[in-house]
Amino acid sequence: KRLAVFVSGGGSNFRSLHEATLQNKVFGDFELVVSDKPACKACDYAKNNNIPVAQYPHSKVLDSGLSAAELVALLRQFEVDIVLLAGYLKLLPNEVVQAFPRAILNIHPALLPAFGGKGYFGRKVHEAVIKSGARYSGPTIHFVDEKYDHGSIVAQRVVPVLPHDTPEDLSARVMKEEHKLYPEVVAAICEDRVFWREDGVPLIRRSW
Ligand code: GRF
Repeated sequence: KRLAVFVSGGGSNFRSLHEATLQNKVFGDFELVVSDKPACKACDYAKNNNIPVAQYPHSKVLDSGLSAAELVALLRQFEVDIVLLAGYLKLLPNEVVQAFPRAILNIHPALLPAFGGKGYFGRKVHEAVIKSGARYSGPTIHFVDEKYDHGSIVAQRVVPVLPHDTPEDLSARVMKEEHKLYPEVVAAICEDRVFWREDGVPLIRRSW
Protein backbone atom coordinates (compact mmCIF):
# COMPACT_ATOMS: atom_id res chain seq x y z
CA LYS A 1 0.00 0.00 0.00
CA ARG A 2 1.02 3.58 -0.57
CA LEU A 3 1.42 5.47 2.71
CA ALA A 4 1.50 9.13 3.75
CA VAL A 5 2.49 10.22 7.23
CA PHE A 6 1.62 13.46 9.00
CA VAL A 7 4.17 14.73 11.55
CA SER A 8 4.92 17.81 13.64
CA GLY A 9 8.22 17.16 15.35
CA GLY A 10 10.25 14.28 16.71
CA GLY A 11 9.18 11.68 14.22
CA SER A 12 10.17 8.62 16.24
CA ASN A 13 6.94 6.81 15.30
CA PHE A 14 7.44 7.70 11.65
CA ARG A 15 10.95 6.31 11.91
CA SER A 16 9.81 3.02 13.45
CA LEU A 17 7.14 2.67 10.75
CA HIS A 18 9.56 3.50 7.97
CA GLU A 19 12.11 1.00 9.29
CA ALA A 20 9.37 -1.65 9.41
CA THR A 21 8.68 -1.05 5.69
CA LEU A 22 12.39 -1.37 4.88
CA GLN A 23 12.51 -4.66 6.82
CA ASN A 24 9.41 -5.94 4.99
CA LYS A 25 7.52 -6.20 8.26
CA VAL A 26 5.03 -3.72 6.80
CA PHE A 27 4.14 -4.18 3.14
CA GLY A 28 3.87 -0.48 2.39
CA ASP A 29 5.90 2.41 1.05
CA PHE A 30 6.08 5.95 2.32
CA GLU A 31 5.30 8.22 -0.62
CA LEU A 32 4.74 11.52 1.17
CA VAL A 33 5.33 13.28 4.49
CA VAL A 34 3.09 16.16 5.55
CA SER A 35 4.17 18.50 8.33
CA ASP A 36 2.65 21.66 9.75
CA LYS A 37 6.18 22.99 10.09
CA PRO A 38 8.57 23.28 7.15
CA ALA A 39 11.52 22.27 9.36
CA CYS A 40 11.48 19.55 11.98
CA LYS A 41 13.38 16.39 12.90
CA ALA A 42 10.82 14.23 11.14
CA CYS A 43 11.17 16.41 8.00
CA ASP A 44 14.95 15.94 8.07
CA TYR A 45 14.49 12.19 8.37
CA ALA A 46 12.14 12.25 5.35
CA LYS A 47 14.57 14.29 3.27
CA ASN A 48 17.48 11.97 4.17
CA ASN A 49 15.35 9.08 2.95
CA ASN A 50 14.24 10.84 -0.26
CA ILE A 51 10.61 11.08 0.76
CA PRO A 52 8.94 14.33 -0.39
CA VAL A 53 7.73 16.70 2.34
CA ALA A 54 4.69 18.96 2.00
CA GLN A 55 3.48 21.59 4.43
CA TYR A 56 -0.08 21.78 5.75
CA PRO A 57 -1.75 24.00 6.81
CA HIS A 58 -0.78 27.13 4.95
CA SER A 59 1.18 29.53 7.15
CA LYS A 60 0.43 33.21 6.60
CA VAL A 61 3.64 34.19 8.37
CA LEU A 62 5.84 32.06 6.15
CA ASP A 63 3.55 32.33 3.14
CA SER A 64 4.06 28.64 2.47
CA GLY A 65 2.01 25.49 2.74
CA LEU A 66 -1.10 24.02 1.17
CA SER A 67 -4.82 24.63 1.46
CA ALA A 68 -7.07 21.70 2.41
CA ALA A 69 -8.17 21.22 -1.21
CA GLU A 70 -4.55 21.26 -2.40
CA LEU A 71 -3.64 18.73 0.28
CA VAL A 72 -6.36 16.32 -0.89
CA ALA A 73 -5.21 16.81 -4.50
CA LEU A 74 -1.61 16.07 -3.51
CA LEU A 75 -2.56 12.90 -1.63
CA ARG A 76 -4.49 11.80 -4.74
CA GLN A 77 -1.58 12.71 -7.01
CA PHE A 78 0.71 10.45 -4.95
CA GLU A 79 -2.01 7.77 -5.05
CA VAL A 80 -1.95 7.46 -1.28
CA ASP A 81 -4.02 4.57 0.13
CA ILE A 82 -3.44 5.05 3.86
CA VAL A 83 -2.81 8.21 5.89
CA LEU A 84 -0.97 7.83 9.21
CA LEU A 85 -0.89 10.57 11.82
CA ALA A 86 2.25 10.27 13.94
CA GLY A 87 2.59 13.16 16.35
CA TYR A 88 0.73 15.58 14.06
CA LEU A 89 -0.67 18.28 16.32
CA LYS A 90 -3.17 19.99 14.02
CA LEU A 91 -6.72 18.84 13.43
CA LEU A 92 -7.04 17.06 10.09
CA PRO A 93 -9.35 19.01 7.73
CA ASN A 94 -12.77 17.47 7.04
CA GLU A 95 -11.90 17.34 3.34
CA VAL A 96 -9.14 14.80 4.05
CA VAL A 97 -11.21 12.82 6.56
CA GLN A 98 -14.01 12.47 3.99
CA ALA A 99 -11.65 11.70 1.10
CA PHE A 100 -10.09 8.73 2.95
CA PRO A 101 -12.88 6.82 4.71
CA ARG A 102 -11.58 4.06 7.03
CA ALA A 103 -8.06 4.79 5.81
CA ILE A 104 -6.66 7.28 8.34
CA LEU A 105 -5.04 6.24 11.62
CA ASN A 106 -3.73 8.16 14.61
CA ILE A 107 -1.60 7.13 17.57
CA HIS A 108 -2.26 8.60 21.00
CA PRO A 109 -0.04 8.00 24.06
CA ALA A 110 -2.85 7.10 26.53
CA LEU A 111 -5.76 4.70 26.78
CA LEU A 112 -8.59 6.47 24.95
CA PRO A 113 -11.33 7.48 25.42
CA ALA A 114 -9.67 8.78 28.62
CA PHE A 115 -7.00 11.49 28.47
CA GLY A 116 -7.68 12.52 24.88
CA GLY A 117 -8.99 15.50 22.95
CA LYS A 118 -7.78 19.02 22.32
CA GLY A 119 -5.03 20.05 24.72
CA TYR A 120 -3.99 16.49 25.55
CA PHE A 121 -0.67 16.17 23.82
CA GLY A 122 2.96 15.50 24.71
CA ARG A 123 3.92 15.74 28.38
CA LYS A 124 0.45 16.95 29.39
CA VAL A 125 -1.13 13.57 28.65
CA HIS A 126 1.25 11.74 30.97
CA GLU A 127 0.95 14.42 33.66
CA ALA A 128 -2.84 14.00 33.61
CA VAL A 129 -2.60 10.21 33.78
CA ILE A 130 -0.26 10.36 36.80
CA LYS A 131 -2.39 13.00 38.51
CA SER A 132 -5.54 10.91 38.06
CA GLY A 133 -4.05 8.01 39.99
CA ALA A 134 -4.66 5.62 37.08
CA ARG A 135 -2.55 2.46 37.51
CA TYR A 136 -2.30 1.74 33.79
CA SER A 137 -1.65 3.67 30.63
CA GLY A 138 -0.51 2.82 27.11
CA PRO A 139 -0.85 3.72 23.45
CA THR A 140 -4.12 3.72 21.52
CA ILE A 141 -4.39 3.47 17.75
CA HIS A 142 -7.66 4.61 16.27
CA PHE A 143 -9.24 5.49 12.96
CA VAL A 144 -9.59 9.24 12.55
CA ASP A 145 -12.80 11.21 12.29
CA GLU A 146 -13.47 14.95 12.43
CA LYS A 147 -12.69 15.28 16.16
CA TYR A 148 -9.40 15.15 18.08
CA ASP A 149 -8.53 11.66 19.40
CA HIS A 150 -11.98 10.39 18.45
CA GLY A 151 -12.95 7.60 16.07
CA SER A 152 -12.95 3.82 16.29
CA ILE A 153 -10.25 2.27 18.42
CA VAL A 154 -8.35 -0.48 16.61
CA ALA A 155 -5.57 -1.42 19.07
CA GLN A 156 -4.28 -0.64 22.54
CA ARG A 157 -1.42 -1.83 24.68
CA VAL A 158 -1.19 -1.55 28.46
CA VAL A 159 1.80 -0.46 30.55
CA PRO A 160 1.86 0.09 34.33
CA VAL A 161 1.99 3.53 35.89
CA LEU A 162 4.52 3.17 38.71
CA PRO A 163 4.21 5.01 42.06
CA HIS A 164 7.09 7.43 41.55
CA ASP A 165 6.83 7.93 37.78
CA THR A 166 7.58 11.34 36.32
CA PRO A 167 5.77 12.24 33.07
CA GLU A 168 9.08 11.53 31.32
CA ASP A 169 9.34 8.03 32.83
CA LEU A 170 5.81 7.20 31.79
CA SER A 171 6.24 8.74 28.35
CA ALA A 172 9.32 6.60 27.70
CA ARG A 173 7.49 3.42 28.81
CA VAL A 174 4.49 4.20 26.57
CA MET A 175 6.68 5.26 23.65
CA LYS A 176 8.48 1.93 23.65
CA GLU A 177 5.12 0.23 23.08
CA GLU A 178 4.05 2.83 20.49
CA HIS A 179 7.03 1.89 18.36
CA LYS A 180 5.93 -1.75 18.36
CA LEU A 181 2.15 -1.32 18.16
CA TYR A 182 1.90 1.15 15.28
CA PRO A 183 3.90 -1.01 12.84
CA GLU A 184 1.82 -4.05 13.87
CA VAL A 185 -1.43 -2.26 13.08
CA VAL A 186 -0.16 -0.79 9.82
CA ALA A 187 1.09 -4.25 8.80
CA ALA A 188 -2.44 -5.56 9.38
CA ILE A 189 -3.96 -2.79 7.26
CA CYS A 190 -1.47 -3.33 4.46
CA GLU A 191 -2.32 -7.05 4.45
CA ASP A 192 -6.09 -6.39 4.53
CA ARG A 193 -6.38 -8.03 7.94
CA VAL A 194 -8.67 -5.36 9.39
CA PHE A 195 -12.38 -6.20 9.50
CA TRP A 196 -15.29 -4.07 10.60
CA ARG A 197 -17.79 -5.39 13.09
CA GLU A 198 -21.41 -4.49 12.33
CA ASP A 199 -21.41 -1.77 14.99
CA GLY A 200 -18.39 -0.11 13.40
CA VAL A 201 -15.62 -1.51 15.59
CA PRO A 202 -12.49 -2.50 13.63
CA LEU A 203 -10.94 -5.91 14.42
CA ILE A 204 -7.53 -7.24 13.44
CA ARG A 205 -7.10 -10.83 12.31
CA ARG A 206 -3.73 -12.29 13.30
CA SER A 207 -1.46 -13.34 10.49
CA TRP A 208 -1.05 -17.04 11.38
C1 GRF B 1 3.63 10.21 20.37
O1 GRF B 1 3.62 10.05 21.76
C2 GRF B 1 2.25 9.99 19.80
O2 GRF B 1 1.50 9.05 20.51
C3 GRF B 1 1.63 11.35 19.94
O3 GRF B 1 2.68 12.26 19.68
C4 GRF B 1 3.94 11.66 19.98
C5 GRF B 1 4.78 11.77 18.74
O4 GRF B 1 6.09 11.37 18.93
N1 GRF B 1 0.49 11.50 19.06
P1 GRF B 1 7.05 11.19 17.66
O5 GRF B 1 7.01 12.48 16.84
O6 GRF B 1 6.56 10.02 16.86
O7 GRF B 1 8.42 10.95 18.23
